[in-house]
Amino acid sequence: MEIKKYPLQMHGDERGHLVSLEELKDVPFEIKRVYFMFDTREGFVRGKHAHKSLEQLLVCVHGSVNILLDDGKEKTNVILDNPYEGLYIANNMWREMSEFSEHAVLMVFASKYYDEDDYIRDYDEFLKFVGVKK
Ligand code: TYD
Repeated sequence: MEIKKYPLQMHGDERGHLVSLEELKDVPFEIKRVYFMFDTREGFVRGKHAHKSLEQLLVCVHGSVNILLDDGKEKTNVILDNPYEGLYIANNMWREMSEFSEHAVLMVFASKYYDEDDYIRDYDEFLKFVGVKK
Protein backbone atom coordinates (compact mmCIF):
# COMPACT_ATOMS: atom_id res chain seq x y z
CA MET A 1 0.00 0.00 0.00
CA GLU A 2 1.34 3.43 -0.89
CA ILE A 3 1.65 5.74 2.12
CA LYS A 4 1.23 9.39 1.19
CA LYS A 5 3.10 11.48 3.70
CA TYR A 6 3.36 15.14 2.81
CA PRO A 7 6.17 17.35 4.13
CA LEU A 8 4.61 20.59 5.38
CA GLN A 9 6.08 24.04 4.89
CA MET A 10 7.99 24.93 8.02
CA HIS A 11 9.13 28.45 8.75
CA GLY A 12 11.61 28.35 11.57
CA ASP A 13 13.89 30.91 13.08
CA GLU A 14 15.43 31.61 16.48
CA ARG A 15 11.92 32.33 17.88
CA GLY A 16 10.62 28.86 17.07
CA HIS A 17 8.61 27.25 14.27
CA LEU A 18 5.48 27.81 12.27
CA VAL A 19 3.76 25.54 9.75
CA SER A 20 1.48 26.95 7.08
CA LEU A 21 -1.02 24.90 5.06
CA GLU A 22 -2.83 26.17 1.98
CA GLU A 23 -5.59 24.29 0.24
CA LEU A 24 -4.76 22.77 -3.16
CA LYS A 25 -1.08 23.49 -2.47
CA ASP A 26 0.03 21.84 0.78
CA VAL A 27 -3.28 20.03 1.16
CA PRO A 28 -4.33 18.21 -2.03
CA PHE A 29 -8.01 19.21 -1.85
CA GLU A 30 -10.25 22.14 -0.91
CA ILE A 31 -10.54 22.26 2.87
CA LYS A 32 -14.16 22.26 4.04
CA ARG A 33 -13.60 21.29 7.65
CA VAL A 34 -10.90 21.11 10.31
CA TYR A 35 -11.20 19.22 13.56
CA PHE A 36 -8.81 17.97 16.19
CA MET A 37 -8.68 15.23 18.76
CA PHE A 38 -7.11 15.83 22.12
CA ASP A 39 -7.26 14.39 25.64
CA THR A 40 -7.59 10.89 24.17
CA ARG A 41 -7.59 8.47 27.06
CA GLU A 42 -4.93 5.76 27.27
CA GLY A 43 -5.93 2.47 25.69
CA PHE A 44 -8.72 3.89 23.53
CA VAL A 45 -8.87 3.45 19.77
CA ARG A 46 -10.57 6.13 17.67
CA GLY A 47 -11.73 6.05 14.09
CA LYS A 48 -12.68 2.46 13.19
CA HIS A 49 -14.46 3.61 10.08
CA ALA A 50 -13.97 4.41 6.41
CA HIS A 51 -15.40 7.17 4.25
CA LYS A 52 -17.17 6.72 0.94
CA SER A 53 -15.89 9.95 -0.55
CA LEU A 54 -14.11 12.05 2.08
CA GLU A 55 -10.40 12.81 1.76
CA GLN A 56 -8.33 13.86 4.77
CA LEU A 57 -4.92 15.06 5.77
CA LEU A 58 -3.88 14.15 9.32
CA VAL A 59 -1.26 16.13 11.21
CA CYS A 60 -0.18 15.21 14.71
CA VAL A 61 0.53 18.76 15.87
CA HIS A 62 1.64 17.60 19.30
CA GLY A 63 2.83 14.22 20.59
CA SER A 64 2.45 11.02 18.63
CA VAL A 65 -0.22 8.64 17.40
CA ASN A 66 -0.38 5.37 15.49
CA ILE A 67 -2.61 5.25 12.41
CA LEU A 68 -3.68 1.88 11.06
CA LEU A 69 -4.65 2.06 7.40
CA ASP A 70 -6.53 -0.81 5.79
CA ASP A 71 -7.73 -0.86 2.18
CA GLY A 72 -9.48 -4.19 2.66
CA LYS A 73 -6.56 -6.18 1.25
CA GLU A 74 -3.59 -4.83 3.15
CA LYS A 75 -3.01 -3.18 6.51
CA THR A 76 -0.23 -0.71 7.33
CA ASN A 77 0.67 1.18 10.48
CA VAL A 78 1.96 4.71 10.23
CA ILE A 79 3.33 6.69 13.15
CA LEU A 80 2.73 10.42 13.16
CA ASP A 81 5.04 12.08 15.64
CA ASN A 82 5.82 15.57 14.41
CA PRO A 83 3.88 18.67 13.34
CA TYR A 84 5.63 19.13 10.00
CA GLU A 85 4.32 16.15 8.07
CA GLY A 86 0.81 15.24 7.03
CA LEU A 87 -0.65 11.83 6.23
CA TYR A 88 -3.07 11.86 3.31
CA ILE A 89 -5.94 9.39 3.56
CA ALA A 90 -8.10 8.90 0.48
CA ASN A 91 -11.66 7.65 0.58
CA ASN A 92 -12.42 3.91 0.88
CA MET A 93 -9.76 3.42 3.54
CA TRP A 94 -10.46 1.90 6.94
CA ARG A 95 -8.54 3.76 9.66
CA GLU A 96 -7.93 3.31 13.36
CA MET A 97 -6.08 5.78 15.56
CA SER A 98 -4.43 4.41 18.69
CA GLU A 99 -1.50 4.81 21.07
CA PHE A 100 -2.06 8.52 21.51
CA SER A 101 0.78 9.87 23.63
CA GLU A 102 -0.11 11.98 26.64
CA HIS A 103 -1.36 15.42 25.49
CA ALA A 104 -1.28 14.37 21.82
CA VAL A 105 -3.29 16.54 19.47
CA LEU A 106 -4.30 15.09 16.11
CA MET A 107 -5.53 17.68 13.64
CA VAL A 108 -7.56 16.62 10.63
CA PHE A 109 -8.19 18.61 7.46
CA ALA A 110 -11.18 17.27 5.55
CA SER A 111 -12.49 17.77 2.03
CA LYS A 112 -16.17 17.81 3.02
CA TYR A 113 -18.51 19.00 5.71
CA TYR A 114 -19.45 16.48 8.37
CA ASP A 115 -21.90 13.97 6.91
CA GLU A 116 -22.74 10.78 8.80
CA ASP A 117 -23.99 9.24 5.51
CA ASP A 118 -20.43 9.29 4.21
CA TYR A 119 -19.26 7.00 7.02
CA ILE A 120 -18.91 3.22 6.87
CA ARG A 121 -18.66 2.15 10.49
CA ASP A 122 -19.12 -1.59 10.01
CA TYR A 123 -16.01 -3.50 8.87
CA ASP A 124 -17.92 -6.16 6.89
CA GLU A 125 -19.87 -3.43 5.14
CA PHE A 126 -16.56 -1.73 4.32
CA LEU A 127 -15.19 -4.94 2.75
CA LYS A 128 -18.35 -5.23 0.68
CA PHE A 129 -18.12 -1.56 -0.33
CA VAL A 130 -14.54 -1.97 -1.63
CA GLY A 131 -15.39 -5.27 -3.29
CA VAL A 132 -13.28 -7.55 -1.10
CA LYS A 133 -14.66 -10.99 -0.30
CA LYS A 134 -14.04 -12.23 3.25
P1 TYD B 1 -16.46 9.97 15.87
O1 TYD B 1 -16.81 9.81 14.43
O2 TYD B 1 -16.89 8.91 16.83
O3 TYD B 1 -14.90 10.17 16.01
P2 TYD B 1 -13.77 9.18 15.47
O4 TYD B 1 -14.45 8.09 14.69
O5 TYD B 1 -12.95 10.03 14.53
O6 TYD B 1 -13.04 8.68 16.62
O7 TYD B 1 -17.02 11.38 16.34
C1 TYD B 1 -17.34 11.69 17.68
C2 TYD B 1 -18.56 12.57 17.69
O8 TYD B 1 -18.28 13.83 17.08
C3 TYD B 1 -19.73 11.96 16.95
O9 TYD B 1 -20.89 12.25 17.71
C4 TYD B 1 -19.79 12.75 15.66
C5 TYD B 1 -19.20 14.08 16.04
N1 TYD B 1 -18.52 14.77 14.95
C6 TYD B 1 -19.04 15.95 14.45
O10 TYD B 1 -20.11 16.42 14.86
N2 TYD B 1 -18.36 16.60 13.47
C7 TYD B 1 -17.19 16.13 12.97
O11 TYD B 1 -16.60 16.76 12.07
C8 TYD B 1 -16.68 14.89 13.49
C9 TYD B 1 -15.38 14.32 12.96
C10 TYD B 1 -17.35 14.25 14.48
